[in-house]
Amino acid sequence: MPPQHRRLLEAHTFAAEFYQHLLLNTVEGEEALEYLTGRGFTPEAIERFGVGYSLGNSDSLARLLARKGFSEEEMAEAGLVIVPEHGGKPFDRFRNRIMFPLHDPNGRTVGFSGRVIQKADNEPKYLNSPETPIFNKGEILYNYHNARLAARKSGNVILFEGFMDVISADLAGIQSGVAIMGTALSDKHLALLGRITRQVVICTDGDDAGWEAARRFSRLFKSGRTDATVAVIPDGMDPDDYIRKYGGGQFREQVIGQPHTLLSFAMMYAKRGKNLNNENDILQYIHEVLAELAGNTTPVERDLYLNQLSRETGVSAEALTAQFRKAEAR
Ligand code: CTP
Ligand code: MN
Ligand code: MN
Ligand code: MN
Ligand code: MN
Repeated sequence: MPPQHRRLLEAHTFAAEFYQHLLLNTVEGEEALEYLTGRGFTPEAIERFGVGYSLGNSDSLARLLARKGFSEEEMAEAGLVIVPEHGGKPFDRFRNRIMFPLHDPNGRTVGFSGRVIQKADNEPKYLNSPETPIFNKGEILYNYHNARLAARKSGNVILFEGFMDVISADLAGIQSGVAIMGTALSDKHLALLGRITRQVVICTDGDDAGWEAARRFSRLFKSGRTDATVAVIPDGMDPDDYIRKYGGGQFREQVIGQPHTLLSFAMMYAKRGKNLNNENDILQYIHEVLAELAGNTTPVERDLYLNQLSRETGVSAEALTAQFRKAEAR
């Protein structure tokens, strides 16, 4: 490891300790702590996930790092402090946010994501570390270092959008969750997953963006070597919302325990927003499902899903099969 990297890692270790101290032991951190408690965070979870709080005033971390011997250049390079270009006082990047440390695959803190406590219109809900020599968001899966061990027991990894979902699932007894922190699944993410499991359960948010993401991910997994399934969250909720509403037991049994095959999910996706009492919608639905079944499916899969399609649409399995042969010949 280059010496410069070691310095950046050290700065992150100090920052994480400082943020957690502010959350747990100061009056300034009380509101953040109450917010977390309200969202179901236990003291044990706060500790284990290293959650902290950054002060609202502008340069407390910069001053701490200076006392520890870091130069302004190093603080800026770490992405923790912003040094104004034309002089002026350096100030902390993260201010008045709940701080979540982000780890590399070896479990070292390499960045942060900071959440606002109360959403205001002019600021992003989450602020992340910028790209640095040690941090690249597209190369990091939240909780990967823990999930890697848990996956040996569970046999699978659950792929979430957000780290709040990972933490919620952990408290619900599922330790093999990781998050891509958004909806961009990179080649690097796929390679990391491939290193620890052959079985990925996609569990994105139940809103439109989450459905689109699950659709994109399922196509990526379909062409890869990993077996994927999709656990669907109902009613536009996300996994964390679901767990808080229905409890961890129901999440484990009815969501994670009953994932859909990629073909079944593709049918659910095609059905979304369609009215199967409307003839145009029925025809469009059949068209989309047949296109999905053409290509890489086994005879048994075809039979299974063509029969389901027949039940859903009232069109005979014979007619669907005939149409399917034509679709496949094209
Ligand atoms: N994200 C981000 N910047 C944003 C919004 C989201 O980086 N402005 C990333 C975060 O890493 C977040 C993930 O995308 O964990 C999923 O976003 P979203 O579903 O909006 O957040 P939640 O995890 O649901 O967070 P919360 O429950 O606190 O609203
Ligand atoms: Mn989302
Ligand atoms: Mn289901
Ligand atoms: Mn969400
Ligand atoms: Mn959420």
